Amino acid sequence: MENTGGMRGRVTDIHMHVVPAVDDGSRSIEESCEMLRLAAEEGIGTVFATPHSSAFTDCDVRAAFGRLKAAVRAQEIPVELYLGCELRISASAAAQCVRGLNEGVFPTMGDSRCVLSEFTFGTELRDYLYCIDLLIRNGYTPIMAHLERYANVDLRFAEALRGAGALIQINAYSIADERDEQIRRRANALLAERFVDFIGTDAHRMDHRPPRFHSGMCELSRSYTGVYAAQVAVDNPRRYLLGQN
Ligand SMILES: [Fe+2]
Repeated sequence: MENTGGMRGRVTDIHMHVVPAVDDGSRSIEESCEMLRLAAEEGIGTVFATPHSSAFTDCDVRAAFGRLKAAVRAQEIPVELYLGCELRISASAAAQCVRGLNEGVFPTMGDSRCVLSEFTFGTELRDYLYCIDLLIRNGYTPIMAHLERYANVDLRFAEALRGAGALIQINAYSIADERDEQIRRRANALLAERFVDFIGTDAHRMDHRPPRFHSGMCELSRSYTGVYAAQVAVDNPRRYLLGQN
């Protein structure tokens, strides 16, 4: 299978900064709708809107998300939306992050117990494991956001993260379009080992990392089989995030 034709409209982007004017993503509801129209053209049928966690303490993200959903419905954009969060976690703030999850300040991914988690670049390896362990002991399943972007995470450590119970997301554009060769290499090494569980766009704006998905998916299908592409873009989101089989 060399294209993603059969998956059109069924793939899920689990990482997008599309809630308007709450973080460094979309600046307006118009821009959000434009991003979602492009996402639909790219074959995406389901989107998890994942504002940075700081947005949830600074503004009413849920109200902005509700307005976006209404606009998407009114404009008949063929994308299903769920709310999540990109939780910025560190060893020193981990307990506070868990409290925020327990108290519902930070949402998990839709109705699941999965938490899209990002770390400061240069986080010590033991601190990744400490945070993951704390999330898991509190009943959450961490998803490592764009793992390929962390220079200190090699394949051996990625395996340790999976062994500790974390799931892994990489960005679609890192597979084929990323100009930084090291990032592209790490993304492809993770795919070659079948360590990747989800794909996201990490789209921010139309002019900054737009929601491009198709070329990454084509490369994924071509180099790593259509079966694996369907697993990370269709089956895993259904199973882990949407409670479907
Ligand atoms: Fe992000």
